[in-house]
Amino acid sequence: MERFATGLRFPFGMAFNTAGDLFFSDNRGGDNPTEEINFAQRGHFYGQHPEKYPGHPPVTLPLVQVQHGYGMAGLTFNPPGNDFGGTAGDLFAACWGPDWLWERGSIIRVRLAKQPAGGYRAVEFPFAREVPKVSDVAFGPQGDLYVAQFGQETVGHQPFGKPTGGFYRFIAVPGLKPATPEARYPVLAGDRSHGQALFTERGCAGCHALDASRQLLGPDLTGIGDMFTEEEILAAIRKPSEGIKSGYETELITFRDGETVQGRVLTADASGLTLLGPGNLPLRLARDQIAEHQSLPTSMMPEGLLDGMSETEITDLLSYLGVRDRRPGLRQRSYRTAYGWLHQLLPQVSMKVKAVVIAGCGLLLAAGTLSHWRRNAKQRQSG
Ligand code: HEC
Repeated sequence: MERFATGLRFPFGMAFNTAGDLFFSDNRGGDNPTEEINFAQRGHFYGQHPEKYPGHPPVTLPLVQVQHGYGMAGLTFNPPGNDFGGTAGDLFAACWGPDWLWERGSIIRVRLAKQPAGGYRAVEFPFAREVPKVSDVAFGPQGDLYVAQFGQETVGHQPFGKPTGGFYRFIAVPGLKPATPEARYPVLAGDRSHGQALFTERGCAGCHALDASRQLLGPDLTGIGDMFTEEEILAAIRKPSEGIKSGYETELITFRDGETVQGRVLTADASGLTLLGPGNLPLRLARDQIAEHQSLPTSMMPEGLLDGMSETEITDLLSYLGVRDRRPGLRQRSYRTAYGWLHQLLPQVSMKVKAVVIAGCGLLLAAGTLSHWRRNAKQRQSG
């Protein structure tokens, strides 16, 4: 056995292309500032937990810092002979979506081009949005894309939520163009430098970095505005314990002498664990000192941090965090926006009916333009 590469965090998907090169997905968190797709190369170090690998080579940066998905999971290549809407040879990736938000998830597609020097150039495209909790993807014998979806359940494996949990099949429809990268929503209009001051004044800076530079008690908030909506971020700040980010749970350690300490576990091994406690001080605790180790259902982030702040101040803070203004119409006008508006007006109406309505409007517009042009032409002839 050989150790091929190190410094991975949560590599839930790996796939070889026809050239025999290996690619893997990795998740944001710890030392990874974004969701990633990487090109796996022998002997390379991918950046996670450098202290575990003394003398490691310089960090290999991700091939793709993923923009259209969160929680990277399974990967597969579309075989080179399978057109599937003009995506032959492309890499498809399942994206789980942010932790506990059950309705979230997506599928992305990456076009890769091998460079003469041996590396790859990659461009990412959205493939399917708002597909709840996708765990894996695979191409079937007829060239269709099969997608595995997580079956939602509560603690104790009791049924809960929508009847998810199954395989779905995506069939290519002739004539449908693959999606292009999305124009992003603009960041909320606010005073960002005032927001930065508030980030320090309100204590956020003591627990959150915004540049992936340090391990603090709370998660790094880089790119948070691309991951969550304004409502979701406000909920995470107002009610921290209602959706604790995995890996950031509060651990309560009781020592043999009855003393206790709280924090989040940074590393653990046979001899003990390193706990990041209040004040971001790493504490090394030997196993034989510890009497009990418990995960608490409460977040280490205090409630009420926004109390007494005006709407404008909250907007300034959110604007500094890069939270986006997702009101419809703020993104580029497109067929998709038209569909989005219709979806907001008529959420229950099926996609087919909406497509017919959009096509109908298009035809009416075309007919109108044609008759207008004819009338003009006639006037020019008679005049
Ligand atoms: C005492 C430390 C502490 C302070 C102060 C603090 N946080 Fe947190 N924060 C945390 C921890 C720990 C988590 C992860 C657990 C959780 O999800 O509640 C967290 C989670 C979050 C999340 C969700 C992140 C994600 O990826 O799910 C956001 C957003 C956030 N904090 C924003 C803020 C803002 C804004 C402030 C200042 C007004 C603030 N926090 C102050 C510790 C803190």
